[in-house]
Amino acid sequence: MLLDISNHYRYIRKLRDSDLPFIVSWDQDDEVTFWSGKKFEGNGLTNAAWWHDLVTNPLRIGFGIQTMTGVLIGDAELEHIAWRNGEAELRISIGEKAHWNQGYGSEAIRELLHVAYERIGLQRVYLRVKKDNYRAIRAYEKAGFKKVGMLCATGHLKGKPELVLMESLAHQYAAVRA
Ligand SMILES: CC(C)(COP(=O)(O)OP(=O)(O)OC[C@H]1O[C@@H](n2cnc3c(N)ncnc32)[C@H](O)[C@@H]1OP(=O)(O)O)[C@@H](O)C(=O)NCCC(=O)NCCS
Repeated sequence: MLLDISNHYRYIRKLRDSDLPFIVSWDQDDEVTFWSGKKFEGNGLTNAAWWHDLVTNPLRIGFGIQTMTGVLIGDAELEHIAWRNGEAELRISIGEKAHWNQGYGSEAIRELLHVAYERIGLQRVYLRVKKDNYRAIRAYEKAGFKKVGMLCATGHLKGKPELVLMESLAHQYAAVRA
């Protein structure tokens, strides 16, 4: 699903189908996907099928991440949206690596949380992050996420507690903004 958020936010915007080639190119960057995982190869989805699902699936909302001058540098998503429980999982990736560590990630996450809580009425946003992804963990903490536990990996590290589970709650977010 693509939510119309035009002119409301600085660092996030509605995705356009013309953004797909950029998202595909970032998915071919091993350093980016080492941290964020691959979207396309390995999961059996063609690029077109991935895009079609993103724009039609009511349990997913995709966003572009942009600089102050409107240059697309990454993408993000609220996914696995459980409308009845009011929760969703956050995924974010800045594909343009030259823009890492400049505050775009944490600002974009803050704006995504505003969408989640103020625009669509969720109560909780959670995420999973590799335990040694210190940059991402710091960006999430700056945006108000807290570590709440560990999850064991699947795949070749199966059974090892490699993933940090973090959450942000609507009432805590409201208190910080007040
Ligand atoms: C994770 C990501 C979204 C963060 O966005 P960003 O714009 O780079 O992050 P920010 O600049 O807002 O914040 C990064 C913080 O981490 C800090 N940091 C960077 N490397 C660090 C390290 N090795 N150890 C500790 N802190 C580190 C930065 O100094 C900054 O903190 P500060 O503002 O207090 O100085 C982005 O880097 C990215 O997309 N990375 C690749 C994919 C990825 O990891 N996605 C998340 C998967 S869960």
